Parts: sequence; structure tokens; C-alpha cells
Amino acid sequence: MQTLHSKPNSIVYFIGFTAALAGLLFGLDIGVISGALEFIQKDFSVSDHVLEFIVSALLWGAVFGTLISGILSNQLGRKKTMLVSALIFIIGSLYCSISNSSNELIGARFFLGIAVGVASFTAPLYLSEISPQRIRGSMISMYQLMITIGIMMAYFSNMYFGTTAVINHQTGGHWRVMLGVIAIPAVLMFLGMLILPESPRWLFLKGFQEKGTNVFRRMLLQEEEIATEVAEIIRNLEQKQNGFHLLLSNSNFRRAIILGISLQFIQQLSGINVVMYYAPRIFKIAGFASTSGQMWGTVIVGITNMLATFIAIAFVDKLGRKPMMYFGFVVMGLSMLAVGTFLNMNLEQSPVLGYYAITALLLFIIGFAMSAGPIIWIICSEIFPLGGRDLGITFSTSANWISNAIIGGTFLTMLAKLGNGNTFLFYGGIQALFIIFFVLFVPETKGISLEKIESNLLSGKPLRKIGK
Ligand code: BGC
Repeated sequence: MQTLHSKPNSIVYFIGFTAALAGLLFGLDIGVISGALEFIQKDFSVSDHVLEFIVSALLWGAVFGTLISGILSNQLGRKKTMLVSALIFIIGSLYCSISNSSNELIGARFFLGIAVGVASFTAPLYLSEISPQRIRGSMISMYQLMITIGIMMAYFSNMYFGTTAVINHQTGGHWRVMLGVIAIPAVLMFLGMLILPESPRWLFLKGFQEKGTNVFRRMLLQEEEIATEVAEIIRNLEQKQNGFHLLLSNSNFRRAIILGISLQFIQQLSGINVVMYYAPRIFKIAGFASTSGQMWGTVIVGITNMLATFIAIAFVDKLGRKPMMYFGFVVMGLSMLAVGTFLNMNLEQSPVLGYYAITALLLFIIGFAMSAGPIIWIICSEIFPLGGRDLGITFSTSANWISNAIIGGTFLTMLAKLGNGNTFLFYGGIQALFIIFFVLFVPETKGISLEKIESNLLSGKPLRKIGK
């Protein structure tokens, strides 16, 4: 087989990289708010409760964006949908940076969130449709990695602008630059997307067979490989998307939907985004009083998150999804319990406990990035039957953003109501429930074809066995 294929060339990688910029933007928007919050709070003199709204407005926007993505990307095509999302990224970032009140900022973040939701649905779809089969997996992993790189870059940028604000003795101002600067990569994505080809699968879907085939020619694939790709597209298209019909008529499809939604809730209830959005606050609680100390700590969180993603990429197809998930969730549960325990001790008397808490927090990040981070997205792309895949992914991705918004919008209230340490003990404790859920309901999907998973599911096998 291999001899049929040309080596992946720079055009293919340019396409992959440009589309994966959407992941970078998604990550930048997740990461940027953590560093800006303290400055926004000072500038607008708002309560923690309003801060929670500012954080979660983007996430509710993303829920909305995800829900309209299926229709947009079907009607306009993947490329135009990504261009629209890049435009919203540009306008939304600039609008955030010039907001004059907390309400305006909440509105601007909601608007920006629409771009995040649309991109989080359309970019992986485009990537999976345009990449030649043999590098499809690594293209999707590249997208995941870009999210973590985006978060890390946002933390670096926050540190730069945050610490200059402190040096200049300014209280507010620089949060505007932090939020506005994201318009630059958004412009790059827009320009890059302008020259990218439309997804060949979408072109076939709309009856433009010749144009679709020409895209592969422009990508300099060899004729034999083009024939294989085209045959696969035609075979896939014969299977009409009838998700709503399946939803109403097929209880096996509903089981897969419930599994996808549950997995995404679990990913978010792991508490990852509590750290992503509020890391500087957590460092403050652990005794890091200076803004620069908090910002540096946050940068280390971002680097750890990015690097540990490579562990998943390296092992997920060798060891399998479930062993990685068990290991990751045990690490996450124990380290969250440790963070909670240290924060419940007397930090003022022994400041070293703060360092212990932060070490445990970094272990938690490693546990997440090597397991739930990428693997839950992978499993959700594998469990839905082809005829209902679009709808299944719409449901599970929306569940990700809804639970993300709930977590992002309740953390500061939990700190106030439960206490700092107990909030982390809560997050540590619930990981045990998730491990039980994996044992009972989650299939191992390593090394099995999607067709086999589909026939197992539709024949009524228990969910945990559909990967066999
Ligand atoms: C999650 C995001 C999270 C990110 C952290 C992704 O898999 O869906 O919510 O912020 O990982 O790296």
C-alpha cells in the first residue's frame, strides 16, 4: 500500500497547519481570561460573581456556535464557515478589548464564543475530510496540540502584559491588550483560510465531483491515492445522514449519544478548566502573593499541559484508550485530593505547603493532558454510527461547552461557599465515580474499525463491549 502514496508534502502540511490555527485560537481564548481577570476586576470594580459571568459568557456563546455549526458548514461549506468564524474572532477580540463596562464585556465574550464554538466543530471536521487517510490521525492530534499551545501562548502573553502593567503601576489597562492581541492570529487564520481549498467531501456532497477531485490534485497526491480517497468519499456519501430519524427510532443510537454526552461532562467535571481559567487565583490561594509569581506559575501550568499531551499522542494507539484513562483519572483524583488537603492546612504557618499544593496541581494537569484531554475527543469521534455521526458530535461537543460553562461559572462561588480546600476535595472525590463509569460503560476502541464498532453498537451489545 505504502508505495502507492506520495510522501506527505508541504502543501498538505500547510493546509493542516492553517486549519489547526482554529485550535490555536480556541486555546488562546481559553487561556487569556485567567490573566486578565484580576485587572478587569480592579478596572470595573466588579464582584467575583460578575467575573464568573465574564468567564462563562464565552462558553455559552460556544454552545450556541456549536449548535449552529452543523447547518452553517453544510450550507456555506467548511471553508466559508471557517472564514466567518475567523471574522468573528477578529471582531470579537477587538470588541472585548474596547468594552467599557462589565456588561458590554459579557456581551462581547458571548459573541467571541460563537467563533470558538463554530471553530471547535468545523476545524476538526475540515481536517478529517481533507487529510489523506494515512495521516488523518496525526492531523487531528495536531489540532489538539494546537489548543494546548494556544493556552500556553496566552499565558506567556498575559505574563508579559500583566507584569508590565505592574511595573508601570497601572491597575487596569493592560487587560485590554491581552484580549485584543488575539485579533492578530485571527487575521493570520483568515488570510491563510482564503487560500485553502474547500473540503473535497463537501464538494462531493454538493455534486461538484470534478472540483472535489481537483482539490486532491492541487495537494499533489498521486493518481492512485486520489482514486482511493474518492472511492472512500463516495462510499461514505451513500450513507445518508439521518441522525434525527435515528435519534427517534433507534435506542442503540441513543445509548451512544448518552455515552458521548456523559464522557464530555466527565472531561469537564475533572475540573481542568477551573485550573485553566483561574490558575493565578489558585496560586494566590497557595500563598503566591505577587502578580508576577502568579503569572509565572500559570505559564508553568500551560507548558506542563502542552508537554504532557505528547504522552497521550505517543501511547494512545499502543496502550489503548482505557488504560490511559484509568491511570490519568487515578492521578487526577489523588492529586486534587492532595491539593485540597494542603490548602486546608495552615498555609500561613508553613508556606512550604503552598509549594506542595502547586506540585500536586501540576500532577493533576499531567494526568488530564495524558488522558481525558485528547482521549475523550477521540472516543467521541469513534462511537457514533456513520448515519448519525454529525448529530452525535453536535450533541457531545455542545455537552462539552455546556459543562465547561457550568464549571467556569461556579468555581469562585464554590470557593466562597465550601472553602478553598474543600472545593478541591470535591473535585478529587468525584473522579472515583468517573472511574466506575469507565469500568461499566466505556469501550476500548483501540485498533478496531469504525464499521465494527457501529455493527456492535447497533446489534445491542453492552456499550463497554462495542470495541471488541
Ligand atoms: C478541553 C478543554 C480544555 C483543554 C485543556 C480540551 O480537551 O476540551 O476544555 O481547556 O483540553 O488543554
